[in-house]
Amino acid sequence: MTDAVIARAKEILRMNDLGAYTVPTHGLYPFQWNWDSALSALGLFHIDEDRAWTEIETLFDHQWEDGMVPHIIFHKEDEGYFPGPEVYDTRRPVPTSGLTQPPVTGFAVRRLFDRATDKEMARARALALLPKIARWHDWFYRARDPHGTGLVAVIHPWETGRDNSIDWDDAFERVPTEGVGAFQRRDIQHADPAHRPTQEQYKRYIWLVQLFRGLAWDNTKLHDASPFRIVDPGFNAILLRSCMDLADLAEELGDTALSLDQRAQAEQGLDALETLWSDSRQQYLCFDRVTKALIDSPSVGGLIPAFAPIAPNRAAAIAAHIDALGKRVNYLIPSHDPDAPGYDGERYWRGPTWLIVNYMVADGLERDGHTRTAARIVEDSLKLIEVGGFSEYFDPITGTPCGGPEFTWTAAMVLEFLERGPVG
Ligand code: GLC
Repeated sequence: MTDAVIARAKEILRMNDLGAYTVPTHGLYPFQWNWDSALSALGLFHIDEDRAWTEIETLFDHQWEDGMVPHIIFHKEDEGYFPGPEVYDTRRPVPTSGLTQPPVTGFAVRRLFDRATDKEMARARALALLPKIARWHDWFYRARDPHGTGLVAVIHPWETGRDNSIDWDDAFERVPTEGVGAFQRRDIQHADPAHRPTQEQYKRYIWLVQLFRGLAWDNTKLHDASPFRIVDPGFNAILLRSCMDLADLAEELGDTALSLDQRAQAEQGLDALETLWSDSRQQYLCFDRVTKALIDSPSVGGLIPAFAPIAPNRAAAIAAHIDALGKRVNYLIPSHDPDAPGYDGERYWRGPTWLIVNYMVADGLERDGHTRTAARIVEDSLKLIEVGGFSEYFDPITGTPCGGPEFTWTAAMVLEFLERGPVG
């Protein structure tokens, strides 16, 4: 059974491999996506170590001059996706989106390095990537934390990676839809519309893109101009984990200055993250930087911080929270609390379980000694694959596979779970 699953996972990675980058899945997502590539590289490692590094290098070949790494690289034309390069109009040599995504490459590169069998190759490639990743991290603190709070904001739901989370609903109401012309969505031609964001949400997504395009994607202006400015604890935790991992890696590779910088940034961010903790929810919450209020919404965004080196009491509380959720769902971890208003077990980030989230949370919990909870998360993830194949995401109660099929990062995470257990 396990052998067959491993073989199928590798087959999917090969199928979605276009040479120097992978697509998340053919049809629905026909380009290179940022955090998909970082996490998929960990799966590619089990097939071909050299190819794993290439995945991340390709992404950084398209880093912007200001340090930003875009969320989509439109390597070649494809009519089957909306919004395409003409909507973003970022005027890059190879078209890219103008938004970014969760910065998980610092973590991924350290993991690739630690595991490397060819240390010499890994050393050279890690050394070349280090300053680029550091530049991206610095960009975040400059462009998305212009007032020096220690926490970065996202300015579009697509940046969070949790596109239509319930967390954004109230803030998203402030985003108008006037002036958004007619457009044809392509996602609902590839996936069940009941699994996807609504039309109203799509109009707001596009309104924000139009606003940023009107500002020529100038990152010194976008943060303050956006009516949507959210501090997401999950996003920040991913950045903080990456800063710490980059610091460790730089130290090992002899770049002391870079290492000190990244560590200082991470320490400041970890302190600031504490301002998002909710005693009543026993998790972190998002913060709306426009209204200056916490968003009382029990989503997985507040549990992802287990991935970062948070305080032991916080990690223990998150483990207990997940144990409690485990009594209410069959397949951890739901992206939203199933008993909270708005939960929808099949609609994207409003309830479904995602294997990449499971991987990151299990990794942190295992590191912090919460091995029973981590093991349950891994077991549930593998059961989902048996029941529903390598889908994009799954209903946490019924296990119904949702979204796109034969998904790259789902396959990559399965390889990680099966070939090496939850931690490196
Ligand atoms: C969706 C997901 C996002 C992912 C992308 C490609 O937009 O919400 O997290 O990166 O698909 O898989």
